[in-house]
Amino acid sequence: MSSRKSTASSASADVPDEARGRPAPTAQHPADVEPGQHPVTLDDCRRCALWSRATQAVGGVGPKHAPIMMVGEQPGDKEDQQGAPFVGPAGQLLDDALKEAGVSRRDVYVTNAVKHFKWEPRGKRRMHKTPAQREIDACHYWLERELASVGPRVIVALGATALKAILEDRAAKLQAVVGKVLTHGGRHVVPTYHPSFALRAPDEATRERAYAAIVAALRDAGKLASR
Ligand code: URA
Repeated sequence: MSSRKSTASSASADVPDEARGRPAPTAQHPADVEPGQHPVTLDDCRRCALWSRATQAVGGVGPKHAPIMMVGEQPGDKEDQQGAPFVGPAGQLLDDALKEAGVSRRDVYVTNAVKHFKWEPRGKRRMHKTPAQREIDACHYWLERELASVGPRVIVALGATALKAILEDRAAKLQAVVGKVLTHGGRHVVPTYHPSFALRAPDEATRERAYAAIVAALRDAGKLASR
């Protein structure tokens, strides 16, 4: 596993807000927000270009010291509008899977590897576009701060983008590690499928297998967290 540090892609990120004619952000850390509350953004982030087409940055939500952190890819259309992670259909599937795995939402902090919605227009719709490695890198500082602040014992990587971000390894392959438990930075990492895959895979058998794998991963995470 690489120990590559995340890189800030734009010098403007280091320019204080006051110098750019904006008030400095006063937001509390997203980890201070309890579940059910509106998340607060950490920063008026400009480290990559995604902010310019997104409604807002979407920080993580959950208990301040949750033992489990679930990391997705990036906010979707609903999350972008509502300013909270996993509030759309993928979030509903995660809620169902958590229930089935016997893991309480109160033990879980939920966030994404990339905090702005990346999309392209298709007719009147905004279609999700997978973030590029440079965007994952640019956003990594935020995930690092969440990890440092929440201090989870277990991280659940939901999909390939999350896995790359958590392991800081652009070559990480989800398929090679699904169903295993990894260790990174002194924490357990449980890689599994992204909930959207369990919702949108073309055939039902694949969707069912993916959902079962997500439930199994959450069950593993719950056991590891309570050790
Ligand atoms: N997909 C994600 O990866 N994250 C969200 O917050 C919503 C959908």
